[in-house]
Amino acid sequence: MAGLAGCHFTCLDSQRHAATRSGTCRAGAVAPSRNSQFVGRLGIKRGKSLKAIHVSSPSMISSYVPKQWTKGGPANNERDNMTAVDYRGQTTLITGASAGLGAEFARQLAARGSNLVLVARREDRLDKLAETLSTEHGVMVTAIAADLSLPHAGQTLVEETDRLGLRVTSLINNAGFGTYGVFHLEDADRLGDEITVNVASVVSISRAYIERLRQAGNGILINVASNAAYQPNPLLAVYGATRAFVLNFTEALWFESAGTGLKVLALSPGPTQTEFFDVIGTTNASGNTVLQTPRQVVEKALHTLDRRNPPPSIISGRRNHLQALSVRLLTRRRAALTVGAMMKPAN
Ligand SMILES: NC(=O)c1ccc[n+]([C@@H]2O[C@H](COP(=O)([O-])OP(=O)(O)OC[C@H]3O[C@@H](n4cnc5c(N)ncnc54)[C@H](OP(=O)(O)O)[C@@H]3O)[C@@H](O)[C@H]2O)c1
Repeated sequence: MAGLAGCHFTCLDSQRHAATRSGTCRAGAVAPSRNSQFVGRLGIKRGKSLKAIHVSSPSMISSYVPKQWTKGGPANNERDNMTAVDYRGQTTLITGASAGLGAEFARQLAARGSNLVLVARREDRLDKLAETLSTEHGVMVTAIAADLSLPHAGQTLVEETDRLGLRVTSLINNAGFGTYGVFHLEDADRLGDEITVNVASVVSISRAYIERLRQAGNGILINVASNAAYQPNPLLAVYGATRAFVLNFTEALWFESAGTGLKVLALSPGPTQTEFFDVIGTTNASGNTVLQTPRQVVEKALHTLDRRNPPPSIISGRRNHLQALSVRLLTRRRAALTVGAMMKPAN
């Protein structure tokens, strides 16, 4: 697997960005231009004006709130609690941005005005997405090819973003994958990589950036867990345990971040239409349920963080939420038996 690839590019907007005509653009040093012209491997091109939905004053909130919320107790309470995160001028680092939920986070955050740092192994995909988003939304998008199954992911990324002069203010630890099957027959190296990507890199990257995120004081930290975090997961034993780690870890960071302005959230999607099940090699791991779209999951997460006082964690999808709640009513034995029966191969 490839390590960190180079991020060499050319900045033509050297008045706004302390940059040379070819070399490292120190875009984080000043507010990025909405019409920055960049060329090069990082796919940063001339952008159009921003299309972000931005709520800058309470009077604008009502137009931001969906119509169906205008009646009913919880809806009104929630509307009153809305204070949308202002992503304009922020730089959000997203891991696992070459596909699925990570790519969707990139699309929705670019639409809200955030500059982006996209991280994954497949550099061609990152470059293509970077080019599209910078063109469509006028934000600065940097692609960094990195294999998060290698040790010290956080240190490696922070060195690279520092070298590029990028000031990361928000972070989404989204990269991850699963392995389906009985534990005693699984490939030990793959399980090791899974634990490194799903757990160790999340801790390492969070640790590397959290002081900067706290200092920025207006960003977000989302760690993507799973509804698998709420129960024992026969046939997904290691995967489920990694997601439970992320859930508990992130909820603790939520508490520790109180009062800093940094909004922390553990996002637990249920089965979602991404490449996740291609990587696993079977849809049995989905529990044969209805799959959500990445758009639904990401909208739910970002919308939750627009609340004045977001919870430490959310489960995306009403059905997934009910399922996670219902497991709490079972004994541990019954929970393992029930989930095990759901996970068994269909034939
Ligand atoms: N889809 C679901 O049903 C579901 C449900 C619950 C939770 N989740 C969680 O959602 C997150 C996103 O998954 P997804 O559904 O969007 O799956 P996906 O479409 O397969 O995307 C996974 C992303 O992780 C990246 N990744 C995997 N291994 C990596 C490595 N060694 N180094 C760097 N990047 C790596 C992949 O990029 P490269 O291959 O280019 O490196 C890709 O961008 C995961 O944490 C997953 O556990 C998914």
